[in-house]
Amino acid sequence: MSDNNTNGSSTPKIILPEVEINLFTPKKPTTATIAENYICTDDSSPNVIRHITIDLSGSGMEGIFRSGQSIGILPPGENEKGKPHKLRLYSVSSPSKGENGQPYLVSTTVKRANEEVDGVFYTGVCSNYLSNLKPGDSLMITGPSGKRFLLPENSEEFNYVFFATGTGVAPFRGMIMELIEAGHQGQIVLVFGCPYRTDLLYREYFEDLDSCHPNVHYLKMTSREDRRENGSKKYVQTAIEDYSELLSPILGANNTLVYLCGMKGMQTGIYEQLAKQGFLDYLNLRGDLEDKDPTEWTWEELKTQVKPSERTFEEVY
Ligand code: FAD
Ligand code: A2P
Repeated sequence: MSDNNTNGSSTPKIILPEVEINLFTPKKPTTATIAENYICTDDSSPNVIRHITIDLSGSGMEGIFRSGQSIGILPPGENEKGKPHKLRLYSVSSPSKGENGQPYLVSTTVKRANEEVDGVFYTGVCSNYLSNLKPGDSLMITGPSGKRFLLPENSEEFNYVFFATGTGVAPFRGMIMELIEAGHQGQIVLVFGCPYRTDLLYREYFEDLDSCHPNVHYLKMTSREDRRENGSKKYVQTAIEDYSELLSPILGANNTLVYLCGMKGMQTGIYEQLAKQGFLDYLNLRGDLEDKDPTEWTWEELKTQVKPSERTFEEVY
């Protein structure tokens, strides 16, 4: 297997911005107010995902969240052991300048975490609490959280391939808005995976970008609706092979960065495909993997011995 990252020159230095973190913590949270809260999946979707904007006025956190960071939410009440509910993190889906350019507004994208296990229906504490809040309601928040999953300061020097499943698209909405506003000339690819077309979050926005900007590409991988040519499911990682005409030159360029966000486990399939196609620069190999042909790596090896390289940014939950 050849290494596809072989165009001779080296990757530009990735300069990550200095960001504020943990100004407010679970022991010392601050208060904010809901500005808007609406469903952003189609009415017919079995998933309910909401776009929620929080007004930070007076919280001490106005203007400091960067896209890629997360906001902490402290749901009220106690768990079954009588202890206060723990903090949950939600990715910022607004650009660093704030939702609609307002530095006091930060948005996130929240899925009601409800599931049925062995006939019992469980409801997630914080996602349902947040989803039920109305404009004007106050809530306890912490943050900001995260200091690596960010766009570089020298963002104009790179191409971007963003892989998202479900609410994992949240940070990429903000990042892509920021790149577009800056007049980004490099390639921007968003590969978005979800079960049905009704779950294509922020679809209109991304479709418009795809049709108006020749350097922006929006690839929709709907796993339970469309099939690959060989009949298997379309997942974000299958795009690497299915759209190789578009993606191979971009992934093969020395100035491309890969970001992935969404369900825990998605990284393994993406790393497997990147390795199989010879894009080894995005991977940091542990143990003796370097001596083996990537087509022979086992799933266990992929899970435990392949980590993101400095050109890869991963946030899974
Ligand atoms: P919990 O109450 O914590 O329950 C978790 C799950 O277990 C639920 O599905 C619930 O139905 C189920 N459950 C509850 N009790 C049982 C039981 N007894 N047996 C079996 N199952 C049970 N989420 C988003 O929606 N959007 C984001 O942008 C986002 N960003 C994140 C960023 C980061 C860095 C991280 C770490 C997480 C992020 N999350 C995001 C996930 C989020 O933090 C929460 O984990 C998620 O909302 C579930 O929290 P919850 O309190 O609603 O569910
Ligand atoms: P499926 O559930 O059909 O197997 P959501 O968060 O809205 O449920 O979307 C998650 C998406 O990611 C779904 O399309 C889901 O497909 C898909 N998916 C499931 N497992 C993986 C995996 N290991 N790697 C990448 N995508 C996955």
